[in-house]
Amino acid sequence: MLIAANWKMNGSADFAKDLASKIISPGGDVKVLICPPTPYLSAVKAELGDGIYLGGQDCHDQAEGAYTGSTAAGMLEDVGCEYVLVGHSERRSMCHENDKMVSSKARAAKEAGLIPVICVGEKLESREAGEHLEVVKSQIKHSVPDGFVSDDYVLAYEPVWAIGTGKTASIDDINEMHNTIRAQIGPGVDILYGGSVKAANAADILSLNNVGGVLVGGASLNADEFNAIIKAGILD
Ligand code: 13P
Repeated sequence: MLIAANWKMNGSADFAKDLASKIISPGGDVKVLICPPTPYLSAVKAELGDGIYLGGQDCHDQAEGAYTGSTAAGMLEDVGCEYVLVGHSERRSMCHENDKMVSSKARAAKEAGLIPVICVGEKLESREAGEHLEVVKSQIKHSVPDGFVSDDYVLAYEPVWAIGTGKTASIDDINEMHNTIRAQIGPGVDILYGGSVKAANAADILSLNNVGGVLVGGASLNADEFNAIIKAGILD
């Protein structure tokens, strides 16, 4: 069970340190992952308790070189990261990242000793056309590098229309998608759900068989709200 926070491009150094210091240690089988903005990684790391891991929000697919503004996976590892998000839908749409690039980033992450959280999810038009399962299956086929085994990665399903909109996918929709993904990738990989997860809906989502955690955006910026989601994970 992995309860992950994606702070996106929010906060300040003071905000990040304060929020990180308030996050509860989960204990047991539950892990917590915090992905702050890159400049605050080290400061956040210093505040994290037991069972709380640090992650980047993106990495480059090359180990080093003339890539202004980018961060190598090895650099994230250097400052204490254990995970990195790759292929978040905001990067797929705003930075034009395709499955091939996501796969290269996931491979670079693994080579640097990180666990990539490979993100997939359909847009509203695909869901309305009834193509959501096929779209996500194709994203997974092309975004998860050949030869990756279950310990190499985490998968995050985040329907684009549910991100930051307050519209969570229904329990039936999440169940259908996560069962389909499980059938495709096999046992052992944690499959996270993301998209308007909050304290009020986390327990229902986490109770589903093939949901191995959540990836939380907006609600992870509030310590009380995020701690309540962690507690829902502990109780599950
Ligand atoms: P929200 O929880 O704000 O919908 O964001 C989800 C997300 O994109 C996490 O990566």
